[in-house]
Parts: sequence; C-alpha cells; structure tokens
Amino acid sequence: MADAFGQRLAQVFGQDMAVPSPAGVVQLPPGISLGGAFSLTRQDGVAVTERDYAGQWLLIYFGFTYCPDVCPTELGRMADVMDVLGPLAGRVTPVFITIDPERDRPGNLADYVSRFHPRLQGLTGTTEQIAAVARQFRVFYARANSPNSTEYLMDHSSFIYLVGPDNRVRSLFRPDTAVEGMASMITGQLRAVSLRS
Ligand code: NI
Repeated sequence: MADAFGQRLAQVFGQDMAVPSPAGVVQLPPGISLGGAFSLTRQDGVAVTERDYAGQWLLIYFGFTYCPDVCPTELGRMADVMDVLGPLAGRVTPVFITIDPERDRPGNLADYVSRFHPRLQGLTGTTEQIAAVARQFRVFYARANSPNSTEYLMDHSSFIYLVGPDNRVRSLFRPDTAVEGMASMITGQLRAVSLRS
C-alpha cells in the first residue's frame, strides 16, 4: 500500500483494501461488498434499474464527458477489452455512468458513448440518483474549482468495475491496467460462473 495508487485506494475503500496485483486487478477482500440497486436514465431517455441488467455481466466506468484525458483513455481501454473478449463479449454490457449529471444529459451522453463502442451505454440521473449509485460503488467525485473559466472539471476516482450477474462487484481494475490482463481476468470469471451453474 505504499504507492500513490495504494494510498488512494485506502482513502476510498478503507485501510483493509487489498493490494492490487501486478496485473492491476484488485480483489475485494471478504466483508467488502460493492454495487447493488440503482435507478438511472439511459442515453436514449429510458429509465433503467439494475433489474434491466439482470443476468448480465457489466463493465462499469464512472466519469464525465467533459473530462479531457482520463475518462476517454479508460473508455477506450474498455472498448478494447470488449474486442479482445470476442464471442464472450456478448455476455458483457459496457456502461458509462456520469458523475456530472448537470451537464451530462441523455442527448450528449448518446453522442459521447457512440464514439467509443457501439454497445457502450451511458447512464445519467438526478443529482440524488448519481450520488446514490456512486455511494454503492464507493466512487469519489467532486467539482474542481476553476475560477478563471465558466467551465469546470470534476475530480473523480477512476476504476473499471466488473459486476457479476448478481449486481455485485467481482473485480475492479486500476487505471492503466493492460487490456490483455483485464480480458483474461474477465474471461476466467465468466467461465468460472458458467461451470458452477
Ligand atoms: Ni475523468
């Protein structure tokens, strides 16, 4: 937990958070459960809840469309992972949830997600709905002060979450995790669940 990433993890999740493996995969320690119910609005304006994704695996990233660098990089990585997954990608839905619901409305979310992957869904909601889903996933976000501009940036934690068919987070990936490593971890989890059921 000595590196900057480990310290950030500890701030977000508490000191009992597991150390990420060299591959960048964070295994959740026993007793920590992330994910759960949510109520949001999709980029096509349709209201959705976790029940609309029942039985599917989700890859979720929280960010905002005005983000200059980190969000586009991580969403590009998620799209690459989907491509590497091949036929298994049919069981995984990639999802972008905005932490900037004031500016990210269904209209501009639709345009934004279409730039990354044809199956990427964009979700927004009311300020309260976004706060609630961020709490479920322990996502940190805050508006950054930029006194010289009418636009603002958002500070936010940056993980890609792998959510199982039970709506619970199975793994999370730190920023800059290699695409191949992510894809093989996801493949392993999907196969393990198929064998058990
Ligand atoms: Ni960002």
